[in-house]
Amino acid sequence: TGLITFDPGFGNTGSCKSAITFMNGEKGILRYRGIPIEQLAENSTFVETAYLLINGNLPDRKTLTRTSVMLSDFSLLHEDMKFFYQNFPRKAHPMGILSAMVNALRSFYPELIDLDEDLNFTFLRLISKVRTMAAMAYKISRGHKVVYPRPDYSYCANFLHMMFDSPVIPYQMDDDLVDALNVFWILHADHEQNCSTAAVRVVGSGKVNIYAALSAGISALWGPLHGGANQAVIQMLESIQQEGLSIPQVIAKAKDKNDPFRLMGFGHRVYKTYDPRAKIMKKICDKVLSRCKHLDSLLNTAMELEAAALSDAYFQEKNLYPNVDFYSGIVLRAMGIPTNMFTVMFAIGRLPGWIAQWREDMLDSNQKISRPRQIYMGENIRDYTPIDERP
Ligand code: CMC
Repeated sequence: TGLITFDPGFGNTGSCKSAITFMNGEKGILRYRGIPIEQLAENSTFVETAYLLINGNLPDRKTLTRTSVMLSDFSLLHEDMKFFYQNFPRKAHPMGILSAMVNALRSFYPELIDLDEDLNFTFLRLISKVRTMAAMAYKISRGHKVVYPRPDYSYCANFLHMMFDSPVIPYQMDDDLVDALNVFWILHADHEQNCSTAAVRVVGSGKVNIYAALSAGISALWGPLHGGANQAVIQMLESIQQEGLSIPQVIAKAKDKNDPFRLMGFGHRVYKTYDPRAKIMKKICDKVLSRCKHLDSLLNTAMELEAAALSDAYFQEKNLYPNVDFYSGIVLRAMGIPTNMFTVMFAIGRLPGWIAQWREDMLDSNQKISRPRQIYMGENIRDYTPIDERP
């Protein structure tokens, strides 16, 4: 195998140089462009954080206003794109719809304005339209009338409006839920070279258009070991309750190597301590749930499970702590988001990170096409056997 290093899952490979997100897995540190995630969650908005990730600095007031105006201007979807939705089967998963629709956007908006531009039209279009697409997918899947965005609403409020407003029952905007969504999206906005971001970079490195690269990222995010974990956590908590499993039984299942079951929302490739995002999400969860009592039982099961896992030798030895997904599903449920839309919520949040990483890759003159090697384990040279002579 010569000089090729075997690194399954790329756990020890630095595949790029990046100035976007800093993570320290031992200490549980996460910073976007140097700013601690705790400060952003406390003070920033998702739109401002998106600008920070993509452009490197927080915007001044004028730039932030222009960004918000442009996000509002771009929020409508080309009417022809509505026909795409109508032809997906009703039960199609919204992640599959989203990745197809983002790829299709390229045909409608092929131009890409100067990559050095602070307010890049393509990026803003994507951030705005992906939100509209997600809400539209939900409305159409339910057979409901599509709700158009309102220019007077913030980015986060508009999403809830498009999801839940109806001509007969107007949606009552709730500032606490808008704040919770804002924090949820900030926490998900970037996470250095995770599976979906690596996918965006790998696909993008062939110099494919940004829509195709992002569509690959959305597909990568879909898996239950990655962005699908928030949906898997809720399904796990529900089945624990439905099947009447005790907490020790669940812990035993998670430890049993003959059982494929894993404790969803636990463990992380990089964090070997509590995920800093999970701490913030837990606080948001407590706040939101104090208003949505009907979700209390899921939260109680989650808290019992967390306490049992954290005091169990198996989880301690393997440094398995709750990750961001452990509590985020409960917060999304409290907002009324259906379970099959959870990963879509993650995708909307991660979009600025994917864009920032794709842009950084495109502007890096030293970056090469991604092309890992392998350790070949197959047959050595052998002769071709004609079909009649094969055993
Ligand atoms: N439950 C039970 N055992 C676990 C778990 C878990 N959730 N996570 C890891 N382990 C065990 C695993 O079986 C292995 O044991 P052993 O050394 O005896 O073979 C050891 O811990 C190391 O696990 P790994 O799979 O080699 O670690 P990884 O870095 O490849 O995987 C992970 C990281 C996040 C995929 C994994 O911890 C997992 O499957 N967690 C559950 C799914 C989940 O919550 N994913 C969301 C991740 S955070 C959101 C995001 O960024 O996508």
